[in-house]
Amino acid sequence: VYSWGVPPVVARFIRRSKIKGAHQCRHYMVCTCGDDIGLAHEQWRDIMRSRGWNAVTAYSVQMPNTYVTFPGFDIDTEEVEADKLSRCCKRIDHIVSCIKSGTPGDDVVTGGMKWIKSRMIYPLFIRRMMSPRPFHCLDNQCIGCGLCAKACPMDNVTLNENHRPQWGDNCAMCLACYHACPKHAVAYGRLTDKKGQYRLPEQITD
Ligand SMILES: Cc1cc2nc3c(=O)[nH]c(=O)nc-3n(C[C@H](O)[C@H](O)[C@H](O)COP(=O)(O)O)c2cc1C
Repeated sequence: VYSWGVPPVVARFIRRSKIKGAHQCRHYMVCTCGDDIGLAHEQWRDIMRSRGWNAVTAYSVQMPNTYVTFPGFDIDTEEVEADKLSRCCKRIDHIVSCIKSGTPGDDVVTGGMKWIKSRMIYPLFIRRMMSPRPFHCLDNQCIGCGLCAKACPMDNVTLNENHRPQWGDNCAMCLACYHACPKHAVAYGRLTDKKGQYRLPEQITD
């Protein structure tokens, strides 16, 4: 969930994908979020309806927060991160059993002020806060390893002749490039100054 809505790249995928037999299938939404999803599940239902697909139930799983490109937003404390990671596998097992048994009803954390978050902030976020332009690397910290480019699910990060990353226009705003950097050398304007990184255990080498 990005900004209490369906990430545009996911919405596009649902709108455009050609899936044989999709009209006969039961479809489910399982999303990750840092805290709460607002009305993202309703947005998902609307998109599914526009395709004529049967959207059955929606589930959310809390995961470590990755959103750091807005003032006041940062990664979780070590304790919160560990707590979320300790609970997420059980939560996924629970979701699987709900889907298998056909338990009715959405099971999502919507949080407060969901209408404002999803219907007012989300559209603003899409229009104003998803630009890849502010991404840059801190030259004195970058070691040219290319892990930022490898981490990008959109192939939007390439390395120039000096092995420094450059960002194209096809960005999902997932911040994988930022979090994957072993030297914390990826920045988003000044908005990531003093912000933390969520490092996956397999990414931590030193
Ligand atoms: C651009 C962006 C926006 C986010 N917005 C929300 C949000 O509205 N609510 C929330 O609970 N978490 C939010 N998060 C946190 C992510 O949903 C959460 O960390 C998720 O596990 C990230 O999954 P991913 O790494 O597969 O993108 C946001 C993260 C990013 C990068």
